[in-house]
Amino acid sequence: MRVRGHFMDINKFSPKFKVSSPNLINLSRLTTEDIFEYLYAAKALKTKYRAGENPALLKHKTIALLFGNVSTRTRISFEMGIRQLGGDFLFLPKGETQLSRGESIRDTAAMFKRYGFSALILRAFSTEEIETFAKYSGLPVINGISENAHPLQILSDLFTIWEHKGKLENLKLAYIGDGNNIANTLLMGCAKCDMNITLASPNNYRPSESMLERAMQYADIQLTSDVREAVQNADIVYTDVFISMGDAESEEKKRVLRRYRVTEELMSLAKPDALFMHCMPVHRGEEVTEEVLDGPQSIVYEQAENRLHLNKAALALLVK
Ligand code: CP
Repeated sequence: MRVRGHFMDINKFSPKFKVSSPNLINLSRLTTEDIFEYLYAAKALKTKYRAGENPALLKHKTIALLFGNVSTRTRISFEMGIRQLGGDFLFLPKGETQLSRGESIRDTAAMFKRYGFSALILRAFSTEEIETFAKYSGLPVINGISENAHPLQILSDLFTIWEHKGKLENLKLAYIGDGNNIANTLLMGCAKCDMNITLASPNNYRPSESMLERAMQYADIQLTSDVREAVQNADIVYTDVFISMGDAESEEKKRVLRRYRVTEELMSLAKPDALFMHCMPVHRGEEVTEEVLDGPQSIVYEQAENRLHLNKAALALLVK
């Protein structure tokens, strides 16, 4: 079933600064309007931040960050963002809680509201576990990365694209490389914003069929194993590491993906004003050459900065 035909121009959208879902678990659950709400809120908060204004939207609120793996951008941008909005946080490494000794998520989740938290940011939990946290905590839950989704990253990236290109609809994004959680979430996010997507991945490393089918309800998605074909006419070239966090190191996978590396020669086949994007951390020289990463088309540090503004937007929209 195709659900196309309702797309809006983001620049004609009137934000109401509210979203239909009380949680941010993945982009499959969000409407296009919800996605635009997050992007407009990030834009408003970034403008204020740049003007030296930090509205105290989280005054008297404490946010729990329960993380099951390491992080640079997600952790720091949340901790700084919460401070900037006048709130407080508690960073909880999963391995230092009783979860690591088998306590149930249900029993753990039930504590958070009683201790006075206002929201729960979860990292490296499965979708099912995140849903259990939402059900038993009674708090807004935000997915800070899971095995198949990274919604904060992709909302932030859509915001960055909008800033640079002045629009989203009809832009062409070429994703090159492993069909991981970033690829999954990009497909859904771009599809819901009426962008055109071409995915160049080896057959064995494509996103799951179910994810592709869901995204294809919203947009035409071209699949190819030819990187040169994929980047033709692209406005954005996006890649990620070959081996994602939590996945086993595999020399065979790296060998297969070697010809999916983004090089200056590959970038030259995209539009002359094409942007290069990567969610970071980067393995310099592996999935992308240093010339591209440090070159004039790369906006990777802006992507990283915008995590701050988008995370603040998520808290502003979800914390009551
Ligand atoms: N992109 C991203 O999530 O970065 P971290 O793993 O450093 O949080």
